[in-house]
Amino acid sequence: MTLKGRDFLTLLDFTPAEIEYLLDLSAELKEKKKNGILHDELRGKNVALIFEKTSTRTRSSFEVAAHDLGMGTTYLDPSGSQIGKKESIADTARVLAGIFDGIEYRGYGQEIVEELADYSDVPVWNGLTNEYHPTQILADLLTIREHFGRLKGIKFVYMGDARYNMGNSLMIGCAKMGLDFTACAPAKYFPSKELIEKCEDIAKETGAGLHFVEDPAEAVKGADVICTDVWVSMGEPIEVWEERVKELTPYQVNKEKMDIAGKDCIFMHCLPSYHDHKTAVGKEMGEKFGMEAFEVTNDVFESEASVVFQEAENRMHTIKAVMLATLK
Ligand code: CP
Ligand code: NVA
Repeated sequence: MTLKGRDFLTLLDFTPAEIEYLLDLSAELKEKKKNGILHDELRGKNVALIFEKTSTRTRSSFEVAAHDLGMGTTYLDPSGSQIGKKESIADTARVLAGIFDGIEYRGYGQEIVEELADYSDVPVWNGLTNEYHPTQILADLLTIREHFGRLKGIKFVYMGDARYNMGNSLMIGCAKMGLDFTACAPAKYFPSKELIEKCEDIAKETGAGLHFVEDPAEAVKGADVICTDVWVSMGEPIEVWEERVKELTPYQVNKEKMDIAGKDCIFMHCLPSYHDHKTAVGKEMGEKFGMEAFEVTNDVFESEASVVFQEAENRMHTIKAVMLATLK
């Protein structure tokens, strides 16, 4: 299997066998890292990391993974580069492709990362757009596989805003890898009809299940994994908080829902999360709406069932696999 020269923009572009290959490579690289075995197989190469939105996990993962592979990194944020203000994406792509061996992009519309990829002849990796977050899904799948020893047939329930990057990408990842995926939210928060249809076609091939359920108690019954994400994503206007809190509070992941799922169910979240008042936004919005937590309660977040920090660590191993597979 080789993915050399490929872009990594959405998991829709990858076959189940290719995704499995990336997960196997991630596990191998994780093992090497844990055992202190050097794997600087990409010495002499350099990558550009463009972040038009903020990041802790994705940026750290790309930087550490690149360094472990022997590569140099340059971090470009909107305030410290010409991107968008003085230079178009098409021009930026051609400039960076001449200097670097690969380009990571985090930002707004998926069409931006696609344009970057169209104009650059080195691999472009999507570090999150409004529509997709494919490197996160590899980490999530690796975490599930580590925990349950398999992916096929795992009952995966996503609660909350399922029409944004995480909901969309998890549905694609689950469809590709044969999981039983449920999106649980009011119907307006389900992924688009067009994306659901694409995933239904994939599911026919892989045996995956796809369900769209509005009743939380029904959705979480028998779940192996309950997963959620913030109700208001980066770049969305502050005004949407009110509507989201009103509409998504019944979908908050709490002890009651975890209890319905049963004792073997794990909790996942891509992070960052508003599970207490220990962040500026969590505190401000928590006080405004009279809520201790939003998408997940603190007791679930801190419980034995929560694998969120294993999931965060796996970002680094999986991002490393993506860079290695597409550059070597
Ligand atoms: N999960 C995730 O992408 O986190 P960051 O925004 O910190 O990169
Ligand atoms: N949906 C979230 C994911 C963060 C990793 C956002 O876009 O802000």
